[in-house]
Amino acid sequence: MDVLQRALSCPKAELHVHIEGTLEPELAFALAQRNNIDFPHASIEDLRAAYDFSDLQSFLDLYYACADVLRTEQDFSDLMLAYLRRAREDNVIHAEIFFDPQTHTARGIAFETVLKGLEAGAAIAKAEWGMSTRLILCFLRHLSEEDAFAALEDALPFIERIHGFGLDSSERGHPPSKFERVFARCRELGRPVVAHAGEEGPPAYIVEALDLLKVSRIDHGVRAIEDVALTQRLAREQVALTVCPLSNIRLCVFKEMQLHSLPKMITAGLCVTLNSDDPAYFGGYLGNNIRAVQGAFNFDLATWRTLLRNSFTAAFVNPAQKEDWLAQVDAHMLD
Ligand code: ADE
Ligand code: ZN
Repeated sequence: MDVLQRALSCPKAELHVHIEGTLEPELAFALAQRNNIDFPHASIEDLRAAYDFSDLQSFLDLYYACADVLRTEQDFSDLMLAYLRRAREDNVIHAEIFFDPQTHTARGIAFETVLKGLEAGAAIAKAEWGMSTRLILCFLRHLSEEDAFAALEDALPFIERIHGFGLDSSERGHPPSKFERVFARCRELGRPVVAHAGEEGPPAYIVEALDLLKVSRIDHGVRAIEDVALTQRLAREQVALTVCPLSNIRLCVFKEMQLHSLPKMITAGLCVTLNSDDPAYFGGYLGNNIRAVQGAFNFDLATWRTLLRNSFTAAFVNPAQKEDWLAQVDAHMLD
């Protein structure tokens, strides 16, 4: 089996995927019809043609608009199950999934509707295929601290079912420091926290996420490499970075895959994981990200073993579970 096939067929974890970003145009149209929504796109092809982004904000505008078709518990369940079914084809056995409750509560959808729906889809995938999932609630950083506290208030009755907290949406002009107090409260609640940082924003935002938000992982972090001291720190502390290669190309963070900072990050000894971010919008689930990376960089088997091991090392699960999954990776990548 060649290196690419070995990497594709290996059991793996995905740690950076937004459930709203897995909404395929086909499902969006089906849900619009089911919910009697006048969807502002003429056809599936018309919608797909709109997936031509110049930066993060141009994507987010469409992403939030499309989320409007998600109305009922059944919708969120269908969305979750569709993602997990597709992720399983890439041999994802564990997924830590972001959701953006503020996008939905702002439209009058109850937090409980969103959560119960997502859990219902995940429960089917667990029962049918043994897939493991975690839910990470993301605060929208373009909204205020007060809004984030209100979202946290909505989540409190269900806190046992929320496995972590994150920070996403428009990065530029919305530094992590804006959410220092919210994240302190999340940590008091005993939950791990993560944040998007260094996707479009400067390396200083990664430093803020580490020092002020005290994150366990950095989402993206691809601009870390511009700062030598930060890169050395990330390597020393082995902070995991959830890199999303196709996303970075589609949102013009890098012009082409050959120019991606991924090889430099790996060479610098950073704990890198590969992920799909918003696969419905960016041309591929995790397997396609792996194919694109291998097409550009032709990594050897040892590098792929490290990347795939990192996906489990950085997961929010207990140590015994981690060891079991790491042994599965080794068995697959070493024989
Ligand atoms: N929300 C969904 N995808 C995102 C991304 N790539 N960056 C920031 N916020 C997001
Ligand atoms: Zn993301």
